[in-house]
Amino acid sequence: DTVQWDPEETGKSGYDHFMLKEIHEQPRALRQCLRGRVDELAGTVDIGDLGDLSPTGVQFVACGTSYHAALHGAQLFREAGIPAQAFLASEYATATPPIGDALVVGVTQSGETADTLSALRAARRRGARTLAVTNVVGSTAARECDHALYIRAGPEIGVAATKTFASQLAALNLLALGTSTTGDARQVISALRDLPGHVQEVLDESAAQEVAELYQDASAYFFIGRGYQNPVALEGALKMKEITYKHAEGFAAGELKHGPLALVTENTPVFAIVTGDDERARKTIGNVKEVEARDAPVVAITDGQSDVERYADHVLHIPETHPRAAAVLANTHLQLVSYHTAALLGRNIDKPRNLAKSVTVE
Ligand code: G6P
Repeated sequence: DTVQWDPEETGKSGYDHFMLKEIHEQPRALRQCLRGRVDELAGTVDIGDLGDLSPTGVQFVACGTSYHAALHGAQLFREAGIPAQAFLASEYATATPPIGDALVVGVTQSGETADTLSALRAARRRGARTLAVTNVVGSTAARECDHALYIRAGPEIGVAATKTFASQLAALNLLALGTSTTGDARQVISALRDLPGHVQEVLDESAAQEVAELYQDASAYFFIGRGYQNPVALEGALKMKEITYKHAEGFAAGELKHGPLALVTENTPVFAIVTGDDERARKTIGNVKEVEARDAPVVAITDGQSDVERYADHVLHIPETHPRAAAVLANTHLQLVSYHTAALLGRNIDKPRNLAKSVTVE
């Protein structure tokens, strides 16, 4: 007798797809990223030599999902009073902006993306210090940059990035905390410490599958968020496009009224990420009311602090935490919505058509 042994299937540890397995690996990946790097009692972060970088400016370069992490990273530094901007690597490489004495940070899971390598090389040619934030030890980006910060997510097989995005956000928070001074370092550190457990709660309780079932026939999906939830809106839409092949767009919530609102109908669910109960939340709720008035189904991803639930048809709940950590939690729900939608539509989830895990051409 012979036993059929398919190494690919075995590698999925019982999950139907690598993507779902990797979504579920996020708590572990986050713990690995944080291990030995945070001292909660002292309220400090230890990222080795990188702590001495103390940049006076930061330029991020990245593509795809990593670009969304870079947008998060740039916001972290700006909040710490350090001028910072995220660039699409392909644009940066062909129209390199003035760098001054900024640190140039390439965010790249694989460390092999041609556009990102090319942007980093352009920066180096202009004399900039460079840092690779990557998952792959010994990758080209790690070797060519002056410094490397590893996100420690473990191997990711699914073409659509999932756990590596969560780990990139965590690592970028460590980078910002370790190289600059912020008022609320302790709160951020404690939110990071709680993050793996909070992600687990989302994974255990998410109503994403029901939402996916209800809206699998939608003509398009829109995602809105402000501040730290803006890159999550962009990432939610990218994931949806990649694996469902359906039209999806993410917007800064405030941009909705400047064009995209014309596309909103009863067949276009709008996913609104609203955390906290501050000015930002109130403004995003204003945008939610605008789409609700156009009969669009509203899915609120929220910690329940504001009254957004009143205007929502469905709620995907996240635990209350710092808005930076909330980004990872909200994104987890959105990953699951995309995953279940793609599964219902019978898509090739781990290897979507036309896409590659690592794009080595410009
Ligand atoms: C490809 C992948 C994306 C990824 C992007 C950047 O397009 O399909 O999932 O976000 O490359 O990859 P990197 O390895 O540089 O993060």
